[in-house]
Amino acid sequence: MIYPIVVYGSALLRKKSQDIDANYPQLKQLIDDMFETMYESDGVGLAAPQIGKLIRLFVIDAEAMAEDDPDLEGFKKVFINARIVDQEGEPWGFTEGCLSLPNIREDVYRPEKVRIRYLDENFVEHEEVYGGIKARIVQHEYDHLDGILFIDKIAPLKKKLIKGRLNDIAKGKAKASYKTRII
Ligand code: NI
Repeated sequence: MIYPIVVYGSALLRKKSQDIDANYPQLKQLIDDMFETMYESDGVGLAAPQIGKLIRLFVIDAEAMAEDDPDLEGFKKVFINARIVDQEGEPWGFTEGCLSLPNIREDVYRPEKVRIRYLDENFVEHEEVYGGIKARIVQHEYDHLDGILFIDKIAPLKKKLIKGRLNDIAKGKAKASYKTRII
């Protein structure tokens, strides 16, 4: 099933998500649906709040970016109940986009490395360190679980410049190649 993407202007996107346990209903189906929804909208990551569910779950598949960055080959993962344990390294800028912010792309500065503890789709615990674009995608998706969007991290002047476009998204006027909704 393909879900519509919850976009900017939705109060839900600003809320904190909760941990889940292995008894969460239809979890495998939900994960499959999240990947399907992400592929349909040409995203490389999708967090559960973006489909209206306030649970600490996000999925990533960055294979589509592997042509430019071979490090991303096969980088397909499910993160459940994730906690960032540590972030380090010089913050660096990279142009980010977000399915919840159609047609907006801005430079965002984030620490170079992230150490994250999470459960995979089989509820096996992992602790891993990511750098480069991998870290970037993980940090971006993780922020969604805490109600944070990348526009919260851009310079105030830049935010002012995109205010009109943000208002349009919040009014349901954004054009996207995928289904969106405001809740
Ligand atoms: Ni996003």
